[in-house]
Amino acid sequence: MEKLNEYLSKYKGFIFPTYILSVEHIDSLQNFEIRDSDVFLVTYAKSGTIWTQNIIMSICDSECTDETEFPNNMKKMPWLEYPQGSMDYSTRASPRFFTSHLNTVLMPPGLREKKPKIVYVARNPKDLAVSYFHFCRVWTKLETPRSFEEFLQKFIAGDVGGSSWFDHIRDWYTHRDDFNILFLTYEDMVTDLKTAVEKMSRFLGRDLDAEAVSRVVEKSTFKNMKKDPKANYDFFPEDVIQGKFMRKGTVGDWKNTFTVAQSEMFDEIYQEKMKDLPLKFIWDIE
Ligand code: A3P
Repeated sequence: MEKLNEYLSKYKGFIFPTYILSVEHIDSLQNFEIRDSDVFLVTYAKSGTIWTQNIIMSICDSECTDETEFPNNMKKMPWLEYPQGSMDYSTRASPRFFTSHLNTVLMPPGLREKKPKIVYVARNPKDLAVSYFHFCRVWTKLETPRSFEEFLQKFIAGDVGGSSWFDHIRDWYTHRDDFNILFLTYEDMVTDLKTAVEKMSRFLGRDLDAEAVSRVVEKSTFKNMKKDPKANYDFFPEDVIQGKFMRKGTVGDWKNTFTVAQSEMFDEIYQEKMKDLPLKFIWDIE
């Protein structure tokens, strides 16, 4: 493990927040036993992870074990890469649900053999960078950037927790045929949440009827999640989060932060790095 600064460390080529990294745990994932019935949500940070957790858990609600056992999303659908006390996943009832920001190399090899379901959510990197910048300012375990410019340079270089966004999306997109993946974008979810919920429910093998879809949609709107302490990180103490996790939840907010010069510079790098990937993002909605 290489300590990069007070907040970040690199292990096996991937950058983790130091406070939560356990190299033994990351190593142990190479022997992590996957079940066919497992469900994974994979994202780069700030892509709508907690939102999608909420949707997946609502879709599969009928199969979740006792609510009181899992007081919030993070316990119901834990981060694979971060040890959760003495929680033993091998004794969890199926279907198990996991969340991860890891790249494909660090994931359990069994994901390629057993083909459990993986939902991958991507977000346009300009909105994502702004969301990440704000998150670093409220999440006390991450370095507070001095300015957006400073953060943007680090984000582009991949010198942030989760390493490079460009590498993450390329890695998962180019290896998509090795896995059983449903690719979605945050922008798809913002513009048509109902269709996104229907797609997810079909993929997860729970073909919900129209009424159930409406219930999931209603529960997952920004307004309603903001009111739900299980889903909006209000369960974290103030010394961990000093501000709101549910910030804006929109597409195109980057325009309020990027200068024209930053936007042009970013576009140029984006075109260069992404030119061979057939991915199209929505950058703004009127
Ligand atoms: P903003 O900071 O742009 O508002 P993650 O869960 O991966 O950390 O992503 C956080 C982003 O998802 C934040 O974006 C947050 O507001 C947004 N988000 C969370 N719940 C949402 C919802 N129900 N609808 C839209 N956006 C949501």
